[in-house]
Amino acid sequence: MAEETHSVDDNAHADIPLGQPTAARMYDEALGGKDHFEVDRAANARLYRLIGESQVRSTAMENRRFLGRVVEYLSKERGIRQFLDVGSGLPTVRNTHEIALEADPDARVVYADIDPIVAAHGQALLRSGTTRVITADMRDPASILGHPTTLEMIDFDEPVAVLFIAVFHFVTAADDPAGIVAAFRDMQAPGSCIALSHLTTDGMSSEEQKGWHAGFAGATVPLVLRDQGAIRSLFEGYDLVEPGLVRPWQWRPGALDSPRTASLFGAVGVKQPSV
Ligand SMILES: C[S@@+](CC[C@H](N)C(=O)[O-])C[C@H]1O[C@@H](n2cnc3c(N)ncnc32)[C@H](O)[C@@H]1O
Repeated sequence: MAEETHSVDDNAHADIPLGQPTAARMYDEALGGKDHFEVDRAANARLYRLIGESQVRSTAMENRRFLGRVVEYLSKERGIRQFLDVGSGLPTVRNTHEIALEADPDARVVYADIDPIVAAHGQALLRSGTTRVITADMRDPASILGHPTTLEMIDFDEPVAVLFIAVFHFVTAADDPAGIVAAFRDMQAPGSCIALSHLTTDGMSSEEQKGWHAGFAGATVPLVLRDQGAIRSLFEGYDLVEPGLVRPWQWRPGALDSPRTASLFGAVGVKQPSV
């Protein structure tokens, strides 16, 4: 039997916060996964009570399907072979590396997440010699871009797709979101892309906005909702591919099997040659 060659960062067993809900585990619960604790289930129960269970779960699923279609597009239509999946979340169905490897068995994927449970579970679930998981905080971009594992796996002279899927709404204005994107953009070769989705105030009732904030009130990361204009501004230095910044279910849609929520916006941008 072939040796498992996946690799996990040394931080994999850093302290896993047990007393507070985490975004990774709450999201896993909303997607129907198994990697969550009572504190996460209690936080989601509050979200479900305030917003409606089907609204929250549909938002999570629409986002996850968007991620899958985006990685397929980047691999198959843009020929990208390197992925930096930032705020990757716990491994679940249709993970980035699985889709990327369908297009090219040598595709390289680095998952980075602030929550150490992601790397801990990655060790058990990932099955690829070209996939790595690191524990790092994107608010300090150098902790990802300069991480030895990233430097070993990603050739920044070649196109790389940086995925920020459902993660920037955990980054406050004080953390300089535009500066974070710029740090990644500066490292990207021509032909590189970003993909980003984000919870939005546009089309969301004030009750639902309050519900999202209350649901994440005790979590390890703060929640920040942004309007479409603020989300669009995160793509500075990138040209958006069609259909632009839209609801995730409107982005090159596949088969749709859930209600269509107005909770998120998402897009893919290609780095402008001039930046
Ligand atoms: C809602 S999940 C999204 C997971 C995955 N990107 C997806 O869309 O399916 C958000 C993830 O972002 C991670 N996260 C939040 N703040 C982060 C930060 N500052 N640096 C890295 N990861 C972060 C959380 O731990 C969580 O796993």
